[in-house]
Amino acid sequence: MEDRAINFPTEQTTTILTTAPEETALEIWGGMPLSGEVKISGAKNSALAIMAGALLCPTDCRLRNIPALVDIARMSQILTAIGAKLTTKGDIIDIDTREIGNREAPYDLVSKLRASFFAIGPLLTRLGAAKVPLPGGCAIGARPVDLHVRGLAALGAEVQIENGVVNARAKGRNGRLKGAKIYLDYPSVGATETIMMAATLAEGETRIENAACEPEVVDLANFCRSLGAKIKGAGSKTIFISGVDRLHSTDYGIIPDRIEAGTFLVAAAITRSPLTLAPVIPEHLTSAIAKLKAIGTKIIAPEPNILQVIPGQLRASDIETLPFPGFPTDLQAQFMALLAVSEGNSLISETVFENRLQHVAELNRMGADIKVKGNHAFIKGVPMLAGAPVMATDLRASAALVIAGLAARDKTVVSGLHHLDRGYENIEAKLRSIGAKIERVRV
Ligand code: UD1
Repeated sequence: MEDRAINFPTEQTTTILTTAPEETALEIWGGMPLSGEVKISGAKNSALAIMAGALLCPTDCRLRNIPALVDIARMSQILTAIGAKLTTKGDIIDIDTREIGNREAPYDLVSKLRASFFAIGPLLTRLGAAKVPLPGGCAIGARPVDLHVRGLAALGAEVQIENGVVNARAKGRNGRLKGAKIYLDYPSVGATETIMMAATLAEGETRIENAACEPEVVDLANFCRSLGAKIKGAGSKTIFISGVDRLHSTDYGIIPDRIEAGTFLVAAAITRSPLTLAPVIPEHLTSAIAKLKAIGTKIIAPEPNILQVIPGQLRASDIETLPFPGFPTDLQAQFMALLAVSEGNSLISETVFENRLQHVAELNRMGADIKVKGNHAFIKGVPMLAGAPVMATDLRASAALVIAGLAARDKTVVSGLHHLDRGYENIEAKLRSIGAKIERVRV
């Protein structure tokens, strides 16, 4: 994807982080109008799955538009630990997997990055065996991997879980997996990706029914196809994979991050600012754009990969999170910050994750009026939020607090930035370049 006509300030571009930063906080002085253009980075969730997918390639491959994030640095460490050689330059990563071995990914790394479990599918199908520690739960819920494991078993893997480690071995001829028909009880993004990757080198045809349709699943399928895999139907409920004997090298660019783009759309709406975002794929944001319109903010696409915000008066609306193309759970917290200052009563129902409303308490500390019952948040719009010290509870919650801070009176101090740095490339530099008053300080 080209960055076309927009000249982004150099502050908005960075190189890939190699280590987690020290504990810091963001100080935000709210009420500043924003204007200008924001460069949207490569999609974190695509990049993580595709980096694991690089293990399918028997030689080396080049990935472009990789965002500079702590999660990416962690995935790089995991790939290195299992024998891949990674070279990074700007937003490009070259991954050489000629010498990967059937080594166990270290638990301390896996426990910090759930997406590292993605390594199991490629390792199993390429080497005939794989050992990956169970990723465990996280701040937003239990997050089991039963659908991944059942899918791999259906493809002919013997899977044992012992002492917290998933030990999978292909039972088929020459240690090869065998294609199968797999129905997913729930359209899990991760399980769809694990099964799709595992099936690329399996013997025969695989059919995944009730597959996840998220754009990141399509991006992974396109990456696998660029390696020579035969995959049809990604982006629909049924994905067909015809196993091949061998894959080859590729040079592949990751799609723009729809969740980062959605976050900046909300930042524009809440500050009533006419921001421009690029590059974006507007079709990936259909539900968020429709919801913004209902709330009173118009979004237009003057060119195919650009979005412009036309701000307006904010009014209440109801949101239910759903698998794609429904409203994304990864934008729920950010929209809650917006609805907290939209006139009238809104209801947000979180249906994807069991425990993803923890940001309510922090928003209420800033003067929001939100009550939680089960997985429903009842929001009574207030005219304005007030700055306060707040603590990020998970990745998207941290973005919601930053957004709330942009619109609040006085100073907001957001702590717990290790969450934010997992998934937002250089967020404070991007915000500063469009007029926000925001500083990162050591605590
Ligand atoms: C991915 C995204 C995450 C996003 C989520 C939903 C990555 C790295 N992360 O997470 O940002 O919020 O999709 O769009 O791509 N489940 C099971 N058993 C399983 C797998 C999932 O019960 O084996 C449940 C989960 O607990 C959750 C629901 O299914 O309640 C959705 O999870 P899933 O779609 O798998 O999300 P992830 O792939 O983990």
